[in-house]
Amino acid sequence: MNEQADSPPNAGRLTANGPLILHGRIRHVPREGAPAAEYTQVALCRCGASGNKPFCDGSHAKVGFADAGHCARPPEPPQGAAEGDLVLHPIPNGPLRVDGRFELATTDGQRFVCGEKTWLCRCGASGNKPFCDGTHKKTGFVA
Ligand code: FES
Repeated sequence: MNEQADSPPNAGRLTANGPLILHGRIRHVPREGAPAAEYTQVALCRCGASGNKPFCDGSHAKVGFADAGHCARPPEPPQGAAEGDLVLHPIPNGPLRVDGRFELATTDGQRFVCGEKTWLCRCGASGNKPFCDGTHKKTGFVA
């Protein structure tokens, strides 16, 4: 079920101080060559502390993750609508790469389309959340 009646088939929503909720036809490939699991909705960890990465397990509340869920620098929009398959590829010790197009809504009312490849921060330290800016290398993020 989409959050808003006019949302496209693939829609994501940032939450303040918490995960990114993503709806669509979603496959998760835990590592290259591994079988994929399929979902229609996932909550993606943004704080780096989940014990069930790349999914949220509520740890953001325990570690005091603080992020308003805004986006200072939206990406250039891809060609095409926010539909089709979405595939989650966790990059070892780095971001979560999402292959496919999805619309992302921020907590301050922005809506824009991401894709064909989007690198979402999952370490909690990016200066350009919700996207990776390479800070995970400086912080020694391990996942
Ligand atoms: S995963 Fe957080 S900055 Fe890259």
